[in-house]
Amino acid sequence: MERAKFAVFVSGTGSNLRALVQRQETDLQWPAAIAAVVSNKPECQGVAFAVSKGLPVFARSPKEYATKADFEQAVLEFLTQQGIEYIALAGYMRLVGSVLLDAFPNHIFNIHPSLLPAFPGKQAVQDAFDAGVEDTGVTVHYVDAGMDTGPIVAQVPVQVDKSKGIEELYRRIHSVEHQLYGDVIGRVVERDRAEHS
Ligand code: GRF
Repeated sequence: MERAKFAVFVSGTGSNLRALVQRQETDLQWPAAIAAVVSNKPECQGVAFAVSKGLPVFARSPKEYATKADFEQAVLEFLTQQGIEYIALAGYMRLVGSVLLDAFPNHIFNIHPSLLPAFPGKQAVQDAFDAGVEDTGVTVHYVDAGMDTGPIVAQVPVQVDKSKGIEELYRRIHSVEHQLYGDVIGRVVERDRAEHS
């Protein structure tokens, strides 16, 4: 079985990227391959990890380009060269624009640390903690032009225990993310293949 080629987009630590690469290495039935990494932050830890793994990397600041469309056009050329079929955003801190959305219709996913539509945006864990909700969680969704707004593919709740502090909540959310993203990617690839066979 040929694995479906994914590009993972990162801007930070890249723990979800690591988890996906580990899934590929340890689960031989997993139908996806992490075949490239894209970043708008050339100095981030996610890029350093990708380089250490010998993965093809496109890491450029969008400020080097006149427009967002020019930046995305350069990303698109790289993705095309690498034969990429799907994009998985994993802590990528920019909105995806029309160049990439049009090139990968229904093939771009994001993972977000809340039960969307609750707590969109960059501070989702902090916002849920501060709001005093009993449950927050993790969402995987298709990406559209909005911030954390595309159709939801999967959600897993995570209980908030305020007495244990926010760091402990971050840890539990991350560990759910690391399992869920690989599971969802596997399911979607298999479903897409069944639909097209
Ligand atoms: C994750 O919590 C993800 O849900 C959010 O950004 C964070 C990225 O973490 N979109 P990492 O860089 O994968 O460690």
